[in-house]
Amino acid sequence: MSLQPCRPAPALTLVNELPDHGPRIEALLNRAFGPGRFAKVSERVRELADFAPELSFVHTREDRVLGCVRMWRAACGDQPIVFLGPLAVEESERKHGVGALLVEQACAAAQAAGEAAVVLVGDLPFFGPLGFEVAPDVMMPGPVDPKRVLARRFAPVDLRGMVGAR
Ligand SMILES: CC(C)(COP(=O)(O)OP(=O)(O)OC[C@H]1O[C@@H](n2cnc3c(N)ncnc32)[C@H](O)[C@@H]1OP(=O)(O)O)[C@@H](O)C(=O)NCCC(=O)NCCS
Repeated sequence: MSLQPCRPAPALTLVNELPDHGPRIEALLNRAFGPGRFAKVSERVRELADFAPELSFVHTREDRVLGCVRMWRAACGDQPIVFLGPLAVEESERKHGVGALLVEQACAAAQAAGEAAVVLVGDLPFFGPLGFEVAPDVMMPGPVDPKRVLARRFAPVDLRGMVGAR
């Protein structure tokens, strides 16, 4: 039996999302989430919020888009926030830290832009180590498991109320 060499970690290139990435991002999101992706409550937020390409990133290799994170300027009650999502990494590229890196980069950009907090709907076991915690007073514009409504604060802001447009 011959030993297989370890698969090397991929070279990472994160760049801001550009309009040209759009069709490849859509294809990645369709593969990652399937046809139910537009039924998610996060989509209701995205319909109300303003897309922030300068806070959104893609991981590319050659001309392929292998990961993406999108960010949206929104509000929670009266408090301006950034809403994160969708986040996706091509299945063959997962478990190399790309997902965590995309989240870190998007959060760093939001903080550098003076934003006070990032809110998302996701799994605490993945997002907790990235600085997110359950945000029990944040209300979403549709049914959601409250344990999956998470926030990362850059300042001591009071996050309570409905997530919607600024
Ligand atoms: C979630 C996702 C972006 C992570 O991408 P990734 O590049 O594999 O992320 P990382 O390499 O930084 O982290 C991988 C780790 O997170 C874990 N993880 C991934 N999704 C998780 C989840 N939903 N809940 C808990 N842990 C999760 C993996 O099991 C892995 O753990 P390990 O390192 O102990 O094996 C990717 O799995 C994906 O695109 N999933 C489908 C779309 C999706 O669910 N997006 C998130 C919506 S909130």
